Amino acid sequence: MQSNKEEQFIIKGLSGKRSLSGSIPVRGAKNVVLKALAATLLFKDEVVISNIPDIEDISRAIELLGDLGAQVNKIRDRTYSIRIPNKPKTELSSVIANKLRASIVFVGPLLVRTGKVSFPHPGGCLLGARPIDQFISGFRALGAKVSVRKLYKAGNLTYIIEAPPKGLVGAEIFFKNPSVTATETLMMTAVGAHGTTVLKNVAMEPEIVALARFLNEGGAKIEGAGTSKITIKGTGLLNGKRAFVIPPDRIEAGSFLLLGALVARDLKITDCNPLHLEALIMHLREMGVSIDVGKNFVRVRGALSLKASNIKTHEYPGFPTDLQAPMTALLTQATGRSLVFETIFEGRFRYLDALSKMGAKFEICDPHRVIVYGPTPLKGSTLMSPDLRAGLAYIIAALVAKGESVIHNVYTIDRGYERIEKRLCAIGADIKRVVS
Ligand code: EPU
Repeated sequence: MQSNKEEQFIIKGLSGKRSLSGSIPVRGAKNVVLKALAATLLFKDEVVISNIPDIEDISRAIELLGDLGAQVNKIRDRTYSIRIPNKPKTELSSVIANKLRASIVFVGPLLVRTGKVSFPHPGGCLLGARPIDQFISGFRALGAKVSVRKLYKAGNLTYIIEAPPKGLVGAEIFFKNPSVTATETLMMTAVGAHGTTVLKNVAMEPEIVALARFLNEGGAKIEGAGTSKITIKGTGLLNGKRAFVIPPDRIEAGSFLLLGALVARDLKITDCNPLHLEALIMHLREMGVSIDVGKNFVRVRGALSLKASNIKTHEYPGFPTDLQAPMTALLTQATGRSLVFETIFEGRFRYLDALSKMGAKFEICDPHRVIVYGPTPLKGSTLMSPDLRAGLAYIIAALVAKGESVIHNVYTIDRGYERIEKRLCAIGADIKRVVS
């Protein structure tokens, strides 16, 4: 559970020294676990999922499943069994859903299971506008009735989605934007629809491929995941499987690679899939970073001097928006002028002020583009983490800086990185978690 106490990280900067070394294993992918947990609503019998990281977002998703009536048991470290009751609740808890935007992915499978779902508009988001229009139009295309009510004084919206009496019906759906969670949600919903559904111009992220594999292992008939067109033959509820192993988190692996490129003498990032990191590895090599790639590891040696580079975030296989902030932290140490172009979200530069306070030099062109001038020495500072990925960028900046930094609001970092301070201390960093 989230504690009421405020926790902070106290980080001793390395003053630009490249001293971290050893190996650091990557945990299971947060953004696969969240969808796999939602997908358990499609299974008739018990499902076992392993390699689940111990992070806050997963605790919230498990709470959400529990609130719907699911039996969720931790069988051993990182492994859970989940059994869905015959009649789960049809309402997503607004208290939990407000803390977890990914709660929206539970709507599709719950609709298949119960025929009716009500849920609040997903909670406030710090990355800019996060519309859900594609989810809504997708449910409608599959035959569902969608009504929206203003239920609370504050004007919060509640959506009520109802399947027709004879069930959902397959359809062709073209995505205006290749949204990751809308692709996953409609793919799961289509499993429970009669006939065939074709989803076009969809997202191609590896997390979608992993989810399709999980569903297919339970008897679903999904083809094309990982391409821009996915075809789903409706099969109805699925059968449990002995164990689904969550693949490694490519964003965590990428975060460690960026950290290593700046402050490591020699760092081996293990238990990862380098094929999912191609865009990042290509940029880093071009900047002068030495990287060795194995089948399931990446080895990086911090570069003595880095060349500037232009970054444009893009849907997979392009440069991931989730690595934009950590990459910008790295670019502050590169020689020359780098342009960072964030094309996916409009509110993902909230961390720039804090890095400027540490000594970084930026020119903000518009809400999507910033120019980074480097290299600039950074000095320790007191920082307030606004979100998960910016929080990681602060850790990187604090480690490269001279002097001590204090990072507040570490809950945002705990949402997606498991006990990051212990794991970084194991490779030589000096980070303390303190409670006040
Ligand atoms: N969009 C719409 N309408 C919709 C849905 C999305 O216009 O109905 C737009 C968004 O506004 C955005 C674009 O589509 O401009 C892409 O956003 P997307 O929907 O793909 O983002 P998401 O599915 O909500 C997932 C990850 C994010 C990651 C993005 C992009 C999960 C739970 N979240 O979000 O991960 O940044 O894809 O890759 O899978 C994180 O882990 O820190 C994180 C934020």
